[in-house]
Parts: sequence; structure tokens; C-alpha cells
Amino acid sequence: MSAPHMTAEVDTPAARLLGWDCLELWVGNARTTAGFLMSVFGFACTAYAGPETGVRHKASYVLEQGEIRLVVSAALEAQSPIAAHVRTHGDGVHDLAWLVDDARAAFSAAVSRGARPVRHPWEEVDDQGVLVLAQIGTYGETVHTFVDRTRYRGTRLEPGYGTDHLPPTPVGPPVGLKAVDHVVGNVEQGRLDDWVHFYAHVLGFSPMLHFSEDQISTEYSALASTVVWDGKRVVMPINEPAIGRRKSQIQEYLEAYDGPGVQHVALRTDDIVASVDALAARGVRFMEVPDTYYDEARQRLEGVELPWADLERLGILVDRDPGGHLLQIFTETVTDRPALFFEIIERRGATGFGEGNFKALFEAIERDQARRGNL
Ligand code: FE2
Repeated sequence: MSAPHMTAEVDTPAARLLGWDCLELWVGNARTTAGFLMSVFGFACTAYAGPETGVRHKASYVLEQGEIRLVVSAALEAQSPIAAHVRTHGDGVHDLAWLVDDARAAFSAAVSRGARPVRHPWEEVDDQGVLVLAQIGTYGETVHTFVDRTRYRGTRLEPGYGTDHLPPTPVGPPVGLKAVDHVVGNVEQGRLDDWVHFYAHVLGFSPMLHFSEDQISTEYSALASTVVWDGKRVVMPINEPAIGRRKSQIQEYLEAYDGPGVQHVALRTDDIVASVDALAARGVRFMEVPDTYYDEARQRLEGVELPWADLERLGILVDRDPGGHLLQIFTETVTDRPALFFEIIERRGATGFGEGNFKALFEAIERDQARRGNL
């Protein structure tokens, strides 16, 4: 690799990413949403910020499982930006925060290449050191925070968080979720190329895969999708709606959420049957799979050793690509508005996203959409 090329690479924000730091949800009631994610998804609360820790304007719960870190925040005053966000969008993911080696450098590289600054670099200081943070905008009102922990010794999320009197971990079978696999955003029709350009040319991500609306369509609904990634750990598919016979599920999201935003967060497990058994026992509701799905899947996965009875019992989907195969399942939306849902995924060599399952998935989503009278 030539020296000028390497210099160019280092100047991109993507070259400074070390992985996901946390995903922050802005919700109407952080206490109950945190309780829901703990009891049904098996997260543990590891830190809290609010009036008891000297934070007056919001309540935030840090939830962890494996390497996954979610933060659930709610406003404590009417003029809070969290309250405005919830009024517009309902509950949703506001911040896709990345751990970086240098937040100032990542921010200035992003902004000089055309990113929208949301908050210029700032420092949070406590007895555990200095945390450097900076924020840029992405689709809709969603942001990326660059988080630089190199001078922060603590394990707390950031100064202002405490670990006293945390909500106790509810009883339930272990779920075993390990890491964030990918985070999917929905953008308006005609804007997919702009956002792929943003991630590729402004942030330095690489396009990984593209699915045209001809590849992702059912009788009723259509969308196009491009996957971008940082080349290491951060994988972000982006969807836009296309014109189908009926309203695209992406269009339904855009109307319900009142704009672009995060559609689903995929969480990786090493044993999807055990994870989905535990989640179902804890009360997670999953999208239902059409009866005919497994006849078709057994043909598609011919020659692959799989626990078909368990997959069929739990409604787990299967797909293969040249690298291997993957198992996945999608929850129903976890927000009141039909917006955010989770995916549980186990990869056995496959690097795709279940393209072979798109049709089966969309038909399942459309049955739910029809029940809401939106198809
Ligand atoms: Fe996904």
C-alpha cells in the first residue's frame, strides 16, 4: 500500500472507529423501558444517571449483555430535547455511538468532509479521568457520538452515572446475546444513494452489498437496500421504500416514526435455539413464519445439518451464502408506533443478511401491517 493512500485512509472517521460504544434510546419512560429490556431480553442494568446522581434533566439506565450496551433515557422536564424527540417520533433509537481512538480527529475529519455537526467536541471529567465526546448527524434526527475513552479509566458510561441502588436483575433463563451484528436505518424514497454517499465518502465506510427493489419485493411491498460497513465491526444496512402494489413497510415506518430512523438492531448469539427459547419464555413476541416456509428452506439449505424441528418450533429463519449459513429471527416491533424491532442472528460462516429470507420476512411483516389496517 502506498504512503499517500495510507494517509488518506487515516483521515477518514471510519479509520478511527474501534467498534460500537452504545446505542441510546430516547423514550417516554426510561424506568419501564429499561425494566422491559431487562425482563424480556435478559439485559442487566450496570449504571444509572438521574437526580440521585446529580443529573437533573434526564433519567438514563445503562443495560448490558455480552458486549452489547444500550442506554435508555427519558426527559425529566418538558423543554428537554428528549421530550421533543419522543413527541415527534415516539420511542426510538437516537444515538448510534462509536468508540474511537480520537474523538476530536474523528469529528473534524467528518465535518471537513461534509458531515453535519450536532455538538462540537466536549469533555466530561470525574475522578476516573477525562472522556472526550463529539456528535454528528445522520439520517433523520439520529446522531453518531464519537466516544474517546483513552484518558478515562472508569467502567462507567460517562461522568454523572452511578452504580448504587440499580434495579435488580429479573429472574429468567440466560439469553446469551453477545454483540451488535448490524444496525439498520430506513430513509425516504430517493434518498438511499445520498446516505450511502454520506457513509462512503464523508465517513469512509465501504459499500458491502446492494439489493435492488427487484430483488426485495413481494406482491405488495418493495424496497431497496445498501449495506455499508467500516471494514471491521460496524455494519449498517440502509433501506428506502419503493413503489409496490400497496404501501411499503419502509413507508409505513417513515410515516409512523415521522421521518427516517433506526428500523432494527440485530444482536448476535452463538446458540440461537437456546437464545430464542429463553427469549420466548421471557415473553418476547416474534414475527410468525408462513407455514410453507420450511418446505422451501429445506430445499434451499439442502446438505446443511440443522436442527429443523427446533427451528420450526421457534420460527427461526435460515439462509446460506458462499461463506456458510446463518440463522435469524425478528421480534415484533417493541415500540407503540410500528417502528423499532430487534433481530437475533447466529452466523455459521455466512456474512450476508438473510437475503433468501427477505420474501418470507416481508410476507410476515405484511400480515402484521394488514392487522393494523395499513396495507
Ligand atoms: Fe437485519
